[in-house]
Amino acid sequence: FKVPTPVNEPVKSYAPGSPEREELQRTYKEMKSKEVDVPMYIGGDLVRTEKKHPLVQPHDHQHILGYFHEGEAEHVEQAINAALAAREMWANMGWEHRASIFLKAADLLAGPWRARMNAATMLGQSKNAYQAEIDSACELIDFLRFNAQYATEIYQMQPESSPGVWNRMEHRPLEGFVFALTPFNFTAIAGNLPASAALMGNVVVWKPAYTQIYAAHVIMELLLEAGLPEGVINLIYVDGPTAGDIIFSHPDFAGIHFTGSTAVFQNIWKTIGNNIHKYKTYPRIVGETGGKDFILAHPSADAKGLATAISRGAFEYQGQKCSAASRAYIPSNLWDEVKAYVQEDVKSFKMGPPEDFSNFINAVIDEKSFDKIAQYLDNAKNSPEVEIIAGGGYDKSKGYFIEPTVLLSHNPQYVTMCEEIFGPVITIYVYDENNFEDTLQLVNETSPYALTGAIFSRDRYAIETAAKALSHAAGNFYINDKPTGAVVGQQPFGGSRASGTNDKAGSMLNLLRWVSARSIKETF
Ligand code: NAD
Ligand code: ALA
Repeated sequence: FKVPTPVNEPVKSYAPGSPEREELQRTYKEMKSKEVDVPMYIGGDLVRTEKKHPLVQPHDHQHILGYFHEGEAEHVEQAINAALAAREMWANMGWEHRASIFLKAADLLAGPWRARMNAATMLGQSKNAYQAEIDSACELIDFLRFNAQYATEIYQMQPESSPGVWNRMEHRPLEGFVFALTPFNFTAIAGNLPASAALMGNVVVWKPAYTQIYAAHVIMELLLEAGLPEGVINLIYVDGPTAGDIIFSHPDFAGIHFTGSTAVFQNIWKTIGNNIHKYKTYPRIVGETGGKDFILAHPSADAKGLATAISRGAFEYQGQKCSAASRAYIPSNLWDEVKAYVQEDVKSFKMGPPEDFSNFINAVIDEKSFDKIAQYLDNAKNSPEVEIIAGGGYDKSKGYFIEPTVLLSHNPQYVTMCEEIFGPVITIYVYDENNFEDTLQLVNETSPYALTGAIFSRDRYAIETAAKALSHAAGNFYINDKPTGAVVGQQPFGGSRASGTNDKAGSMLNLLRWVSARSIKETF
């Protein structure tokens, strides 16, 4: 079985009048007007409960898309049992059969399922059509296809043999079940975390963020349509602490595939540590977490390219990408020009619901997030340490809308230079153009995170100096480009320090975490 050599799924343009735009608009309208009823998926059962919660559109919070059925502790137990019941069948299935299910899902998503998946992401997570396309279509398709290729390479990784001694290595699934805990902000990540562990023969309990359940439900339906056997991935909507209490105390808990905030991951790690004596095997702990991603400009940088990177890198998907630029360091010689370009860009960004394809900015995910971001903006308005040079407004009367905001800070340690805000806010510090070397140290030491970062420079020596000085400041480092938009197979993604275990989603390194190898020596 030879996996087709993967190529990145081409991004559709959704240009006015294009067939893909018409199909997406039609699908969006239909899904918006028809109330959906979203069950949990446990074993072969679609599970409905008395506890129904509305699926809210962030950009129009009074318009309910439908309801999902929330589960309780008993559903977590059922999901674990269903996973364990499917384990032997799934682990013993030839890996090429497992791969063919995920490859079929990728083909379905590239074709007839694309509009539905994108529309679910636009409606439920308030992404514009282009941001939905690069996430819930292209990136998810790429994860499914490239992972199959990486799995082939892993299974082919074999030790040397010698005359009379035959050595081999079995890449077994983990002994137990994997817990996939996914964030709201990327549909591709929500699909990849359970799917990558399952591809390697593991059974999975999957709990998505409540604000992303619409897209998670469509992913589950897609995988089932592609032939995923019952019990391999069990999708439950149970609050995090309830699910965690049961899962992290279970003897068959064999690994967690997490993406979300640093605080939640650190708590999970502590819980697992406290329970370590309960498990049959040391669990794999894989977590991609928060960021405080930077753009650093050298005095030689091109001001226009830099400004575009700031406004795109900070404000695509309302700054709710883990990779979003949220602090920038600009030399004094470039500041006036960069400021003018950024202000012009921000003024040109239209804000509104995703059904109007010309809206670049949509709503932030929910009221909690809105209030948190608004508080940062209010504090900034009252602080002598910062100036608002663009945006600063917000309104939650209809949807959770926050204007793209650029802060200029006179203090490089001001709170918005250091903390992850996870919204459309970037803070800029202007440094003396003669102090590039000191600024490198500032970038390195200001934040505990190390997810993405970018250097803008036309001076090769400055690029090399920055790459060396910042070697642990970002797991994904960009030279003369914005720090968002990593592509599967091209820029394996993940950060270190407080940003995660850096197991590089979309690479063989990640898949290796979901197997436990057995070396076999046979003498004859
Ligand atoms: P979150 O941490 O609030 O939630 C992540 C998941 O954990 C959700 O399913 C949530 O329900 C669950 N959860 C929350 N509290 C829990 C608890 N006490 N016990 C068990 N589970 C719990 O994150 P979010 O708001 O959905 O996502 C945004 C965060 O994710 C940001 O910090 C962002 O930087 C990060 N992120 C990181 C990457 C990356 O690759 N590094 C990618 C995307 C998002
Ligand atoms: N692929 C996403 C990005 O780099 C996580 O923005």
